[in-house]
Amino acid sequence: AEETMILTERQGRVAVIRLNRPKALNALCDQLMEELGQALRGFDADPEVAAIVLTGSDRAFAAGADIKEMQSRSFPAVYLDDFIGKRWEAVTYVQKPVIAAVAGFALGGGCELAMMCDLIIAADNAKFGQPEINLGVIPGAGGTQRLTRAVGKAKAMDLVLTGRMMDAAEAERAGLVARIVPLAEVVAEAVKLGEKLGTLSAPALAMAKEAVNRAFETTLAEGVKFERRAFQSLFSTEDQKEGMAAFAEKRPAVFRNR
Ligand code: HXC
Repeated sequence: AEETMILTERQGRVAVIRLNRPKALNALCDQLMEELGQALRGFDADPEVAAIVLTGSDRAFAAGADIKEMQSRSFPAVYLDDFIGKRWEAVTYVQKPVIAAVAGFALGGGCELAMMCDLIIAADNAKFGQPEINLGVIPGAGGTQRLTRAVGKAKAMDLVLTGRMMDAAEAERAGLVARIVPLAEVVAEAVKLGEKLGTLSAPALAMAKEAVNRAFETTLAEGVKFERRAFQSLFSTEDQKEGMAAFAEKRPAVFRNR
């Protein structure tokens, strides 16, 4: 039997998925991505889970797609296999909040995977980059698009054309990273955030995430219209009644996700 390449655990209502292929710095081979997709779909469907934390090791979140596995592939093979579409996009279909807790290298597909998550909490040793150019290729899992939207053209071109890495401080300044915390605290911080989100209304969170993501897909006018309709639709939830009643009654809200 093959070893599994991810570890999963529950910490309260937060599911933690840990990429666990230490000998290859969590290089994202087909098997690992398959297991990751299954875990993400499982936790998204599990009513006991409120949020998902995706992390790696202290040394590497993930050092990219598996170069040794990719190197001899042909165009027809990667094309017909839709490399990397099907296997890699699982995280973008998750409705619950997905928090990347990134320590060490997040390179190539590793950086792209982190950017598919809803937000990135970085350890102070995190390093981000899109070094594909050094391999004679370019980012292939959204790097040229998501990085550009996250940090703007100047930094994106700098990183994608040169392949250089950016440290956690630069990544935060550039807007790629939501928070930087000491290495020893990065997973705990992400879990704590997930727990906090677990006390909020799940439908409101899912709509919030959908609306923010819509900003990357559409015009301002259409995005604002989408947001307004989503906002209005939340007045159909018990959670909206509860949240507003709790405020008026000066007590904490108890959301029931309906
Ligand atoms: C396969 C990898 C790997 C990768 C590291 N390893 N990254 N194997 N694919 N992406 C393996 C090494 O071969 C080595 O195995 C072991 O992990 C430890 O790595 P070292 O290089 O010895 O460590 P270090 O000297 O500390 O350097 C760390 C590093 C370097 C700077 C992160 O490993 C590196 O440059 N890795 C490649 C980064 C990269 O180019 N990523 C983009 C990939 S393309 P052995 O067996 O020798 O001990 C990509 C395309 C995405 O992601 C597009 C969508 C799919």
